[in-house]
Amino acid sequence: MKAAFPFLIILLITGSVHSSNLENEKGVTAGFKSATDFTSHTNGSVTCTSGQCHSEFKAREKNMHEPAASGMCSECHSAGAYPNRFGLDQNERMTCARCHKQVEQIIKSGMFVHGPIKNGDCTSCHDPHGSMQPFLLRTPYNKLCASCHKTAGFNARSFLHEPVKDGNCGICHDPHASDYESRLVDTGANLCITCHEDMITGMTKNFVHEPLLKSGCSVCHDPHEGDNKLRLKAAPDRLCYKCHANKKIEVGQYIHKHDPAARGLCIECHSPHYSDNKHLLKDRVDSICYGCHKKKSAWKDRRYKHGPVAQGNCTACHNPHGSDNAFILRLAFPHNFYSEYKQNKYDLCFRCHIEGLVTAEKTKTITEFRNGETNLHSLHVMQKKGRTCRACHNVHASDQEGRIRDSFPYGAIEMPLEFYKTKTGGFCATGCHKPMTYDRLHAVDNSR
Ligand code: HEC
Ligand code: HEC
Ligand code: HEC
Ligand code: HEC
Ligand code: HEC
Ligand code: HEC
Ligand code: HEC
Ligand code: HEC
Ligand code: HEC
Ligand code: HEC
Ligand code: HEC
Ligand code: HEC
Ligand code: HEC
Repeated sequence: MKAAFPFLIILLITGSVHSSNLENEKGVTAGFKSATDFTSHTNGSVTCTSGQCHSEFKAREKNMHEPAASGMCSECHSAGAYPNRFGLDQNERMTCARCHKQVEQIIKSGMFVHGPIKNGDCTSCHDPHGSMQPFLLRTPYNKLCASCHKTAGFNARSFLHEPVKDGNCGICHDPHASDYESRLVDTGANLCITCHEDMITGMTKNFVHEPLLKSGCSVCHDPHEGDNKLRLKAAPDRLCYKCHANKKIEVGQYIHKHDPAARGLCIECHSPHYSDNKHLLKDRVDSICYGCHKKKSAWKDRRYKHGPVAQGNCTACHNPHGSDNAFILRLAFPHNFYSEYKQNKYDLCFRCHIEGLVTAEKTKTITEFRNGETNLHSLHVMQKKGRTCRACHNVHASDQEGRIRDSFPYGAIEMPLEFYKTKTGGFCATGCHKPMTYDRLHAVDNSR
């Protein structure tokens, strides 16, 4: 880059000077040796553009620089500055600064000053006399930056950002100086949401992903170009781990990993930007789950839905990332038909229900499933060959009262289970035993 730009200036000078009669064999202007040399050249004339002289500066270009157009050539070319090149002040920037105090102010106060300006070189981009381009630019804006920066590489990558493709570099970079690194015109997400306007309202949602607020968009998206879709700085299944490495470790340690989390497909469930849902979730939890587990959405149409299922709170029982328990359950729960009762075995259910539901052999209050005071939960569950909750209940939803399942898989066959409630008890017809009834007020003797 550094080597390229003095070379560029020479090219531009020789290009614009070849009509002058002052050039040497190499085509490079020799200039005047001294102030007298120059004064004799001007021969006392007030303007330099009279008659044949320097007629090329007479409204040659679409946009003339004001002092050149009004013939104030000596504002920049002064006899006093010879023998410097063209009688210009050695520090070109100071020449320009005399009139362009505002630009000079920005340069002086800016923490980050552009390379060519640091070298006092304003005319690498601006033609001091006039130009066909706006802002007296030497080349059209979309080629200007590329004249020193290897933007050709930008076009070689698969995904090119639209404003970069258009050469619209100045929309993000101040050409002179700024207070932000890389001379950006603004900081963080502000740089991007001026164009990505729909994200302005997005940024007002209840939960905004911290990097958007703290570091901006380009921690994830390359602002120029990239080989990943959306110019993501890493493939989508690795991007999140750049900062959430602990989540990768956590998921890796689970015996049962939830498939999409194990594959790093975090964005199937989380928005990378913002959301009105906690934890940046893209939607209500159950809608997210039903999105992949499509058949399960039939639960929504069942007559009796379990409390947390009705609330859409699937993660009350399932850890969406993984777990050491089967079915990625947060806590222990036996899945067989029979299982010996042990403390902690039903932790999942007793997170919300009281354990006395099964441990109290006699009760008048804890459970409705009792015959007189005999706790039928206890009777079925608290045994060596205890029936598990799922032998009778469907954990998600069912069409029978008490969320009793319609049938249960017993070996190869589905055994039907018929249940209804009465005012003070219930009736159960099942393959396990002959039909039986229970009554909370007047214990039924089923042996008769
Ligand atoms: C705003 C400052 C400025 C003004 C005003 C200005 N020049 Fe220049 N001029 C320069 C600079 C800087 C260069 C050095 C070459 C370059 O960077 O283009 C230059 C180069 C030249 C050159 C030599 C190279 C070339 O481009 O031909 C001539 C001749 C010239 N100026 C004539 C004039 C004349 C005549 C006027 C008045 C109509 C004028 N200049 C007004 C800044 C100025
Ligand atoms: C004698 C005062 C004077 C000097 C010296 C001067 N300029 Fe200017 N410049 C003007 C005026 C007057 C204008 C037109 C009004 C404006 O836009 O501020 C102008 C306009 C410009 C513009 C904007 C043109 C546009 O289309 O908006 C640029 C760019 C510029 N000058 C660059 C330079 C550079 C680079 C130098 C030093 C090589 C320089 N000027 C030196 C007086 C000067
Ligand atoms: C790297 C290229 C580049 C260099 C070097 C450069 N400019 Fe500019 N300048 C631009 C571009 C591009 C614009 C167009 C406006 C914009 O995008 O901000 C501009 C706009 C201007 C303007 C008019 C708008 C404004 O901001 O007031 C002035 C005056 C100006 N430059 C002066 C200077 C001076 C003085 C220097 C040297 C100290 C200089 N420029 C060096 C690229 C450059
Ligand atoms: C005359 C040659 C030249 C032109 C034209 C030019 N640059 Fe530069 N640019 C440089 C140099 C020299 C550096 C300093 C390189 C370094 O220090 O590593 C630089 C550095 C940069 C940087 C690095 C970050 C920083 O803090 O400065 C950015 C960004 C940049 N330029 C953007 C642009 C844009 C945008 C344009 C077009 C408006 C442009 N450049 C036009 C020569 C140029
Ligand atoms: C959409 C905004 C945007 C546009 C348009 C843009 N840049 Fe950048 N540029 C940035 C940001 C942001 C950075 C800071 C580095 C980062 O975050 O990756 C940067 C950094 C740079 C750097 C510093 C080196 C680097 O890659 O880190 C250069 C040089 C540069 N840009 C040149 C250009 C040029 C030349 C153009 C036009 C072809 C351009 N930029 C267009 C936003 C932009
Ligand atoms: C000058 C306006 C402008 C600015 C500023 C801008 N963008 Fe863009 N961006 C566009 C346009 C135009 C498109 C292409 C159309 C679309 O998909 O909306 C685009 C597309 C994108 C895309 C979609 C992928 C693609 O390339 O099609 C992403 C991601 C993106 N921009 C990120 C950013 C980031 C990050 C920033 C800030 C560093 C930013 N944009 C700043 C105009 C802009
Ligand atoms: C934490 C990383 C991250 C940050 C920070 C980030 N993005 Fe994204 N962005 C992504 C990912 C990942 C996608 C792909 C989302 C998908 O496919 O569901 C994306 C998608 C996009 C898209 C494509 C359309 C869409 O909304 O899906 C645009 C445009 C975009 N981002 C712009 C931005 C802008 C502008 C910012 C800053 C305000 C930003 N991004 C900040 C990671 C990020
Ligand atoms: C640049 C670093 C960075 C990247 C990349 C990143 N994050 Fe974050 N993320 C954070 C920070 C910082 C927080 C806030 C602190 C925390 O909760 O860990 C956060 C918070 C979150 C939260 C909210 C946690 C909560 O308790 O509510 C989720 C969800 C999240 N990120 C998901 C993602 C996803 C998905 C991706 C990939 C698209 C991703 N992050 C990429 C830095 C990052
Ligand atoms: C199947 C959907 C799904 C996938 C895939 C997923 N998450 Fe989550 N994530 C959730 C849900 C739902 C919550 C809220 C959990 C809760 O309510 O307790 C959450 C919570 C979080 C939290 C905050 C609480 C915590 O557990 O630390 C972070 C951070 C997070 N996820 C990051 C990630 C990352 C990183 C990935 C990719 C490896 C990922 N998630 C993949 C659904 C998912
Ligand atoms: C992106 C798609 C996707 C989303 C979203 C998703 N899952 Fe899954 N889930 C899968 C895949 C794939 C499997 C493994 C194959 C299977 O068992 O169907 C799986 C398996 C499961 C399993 C069985 C795990 C095991 O160890 O046998 C449960 C339970 C589960 N998911 C619950 C949920 C819950 C709860 C949610 C919402 C928080 C959810 N899933 C969201 C794709 C998804
Ligand atoms: C009260 C706890 C609980 C809640 C809430 C819950 N589940 Fe489950 N889920 C379980 C248990 C227990 C199993 C294991 C079933 C078994 O043992 O037969 C399971 C199994 C699953 C399975 C895999 C087994 C199968 O039936 O294919 C999926 C998928 C699943 N649940 C999805 C969900 C979704 C989606 C939600 C939210 C709508 C949800 N769960 C809410 C406890 C729960
Ligand atoms: C996150 C808390 C929570 C967890 C964990 C939980 N439940 Fe529930 N359960 C409830 C709520 C709340 C109700 C009351 C719902 C209602 O009556 O609408 C309920 C009601 C029930 C009912 C009565 C249904 C009816 O229609 O009368 C049964 C049976 C039940 N749960 C079984 C279980 C089993 C088995 C487990 C363990 C797999 C379990 N629950 C885990 C919250 C939970
Ligand atoms: C033998 C079948 C059976 C088993 C096994 C069973 N339940 Fe029940 N459960 C019922 C019946 C029947 C009802 C409905 C009682 C009523 O309302 O008359 C019920 C009701 C409930 C209720 C509603 C509140 C109450 O007690 O009336 C909860 C909660 C409950 N069961 C949880 C569980 C849990 C947890 C397990 C496993 C530890 C379990 N059940 C095992 C049959 C069973």
